[in-house]
Amino acid sequence: MILVTGSTGNIGTELVAELSESGQRVRALVRDPARAALPAGVEAVTGDLNKPESLVDALDGVDGIFLMPGYADMAETLALAKKAGVQRIALLSSGSAALEDLDNAVSRYMTLSERAVRESGMAWTFLRPRSFMSNALRWLPQLAAGDRVRVQFPGVAVAAIDPADIATVAAVALTEGGLDGRILDLTGPRALRPAEQVAVLAEVLGRPLVAEELTDAETRAELEATMPQPYVDAFVSFFIDGKLDESQVYPTVREVTGRDPHTFERWARTHAAAFAH
Ligand SMILES: NC(=O)c1ccc[n+]([C@@H]2O[C@H](COP(=O)([O-])OP(=O)(O)OC[C@H]3O[C@@H](n4cnc5c(N)ncnc54)[C@H](OP(=O)(O)O)[C@@H]3O)[C@@H](O)[C@H]2O)c1
Repeated sequence: MILVTGSTGNIGTELVAELSESGQRVRALVRDPARAALPAGVEAVTGDLNKPESLVDALDGVDGIFLMPGYADMAETLALAKKAGVQRIALLSSGSAALEDLDNAVSRYMTLSERAVRESGMAWTFLRPRSFMSNALRWLPQLAAGDRVRVQFPGVAVAAIDPADIATVAAVALTEGGLDGRILDLTGPRALRPAEQVAVLAEVLGRPLVAEELTDAETRAELEATMPQPYVDAFVSFFIDGKLDESQVYPTVREVTGRDPHTFERWARTHAAAFAH
């Protein structure tokens, strides 16, 4: 039995579907069963990653967990998992874990999550994806309003990855073994700047989209309107101060899955309906 946390999210939705279609027993951790649309036959169990004691039922009989990073009392959650007989953890992390920068809010929670899993005594695989292609969904309100898209960090090229590819790698790690103790840098097939992603979306959606490139000050102001200051500072440090380079392409998805990672165009075609309004 595999327990998928974040089962309603970008990766979790794909992972639950993939495991279920391959005949694997899969359980989905959800916070609100009424909001979770799961494939037939997938068992939903309610629990909150910030409340380890709420996870006891979800952990019963589980062999492997796809685990989201950064929640409270990770050590306690992992101790409960080990006690329940869990053998293996595939931890969602990110490239910023490699920085081990405990003064950076994002690098900090990734680093501390990896450390907690390392110390748990269970087998582990760390998934370090670069930015997700699904981050383009944050442009939805702008696309609903018109053809201009204000893009943050316009000069930063990122080898973004389809969450479905992260899910496929997680499924291999949790069901086939062979990836225990591995740290997997996961990217898409090429690095694109935000305006290049917008150009691909324009082509796929058949719309005359124009990327409006924000200055550093405008980017910072937009971030401050949407997230707490420590996270603003973290992303400014990564992408304006240049502490994190997500432009390098890695062969890992192909090595693990036997196929190339999805392009941004493919992601956009698969999710085109989400952009229709
Ligand atoms: N976006 C990126 O570029 C990127 C890159 C590297 C790593 N990451 C990491 O990936 C993770 C997911 O990011 P995302 O933006 O794609 O979000 P997402 O997975 O689409 O959504 C978050 C998921 O976590 C669940 N969740 C939230 N709080 C929870 C809690 N207290 N207990 C149990 N489940 C909870 C949500 O469930 P509900 O349905 O209940 O809300 C949802 O399924 C984040 O940890 C992020 O740091 C993201």
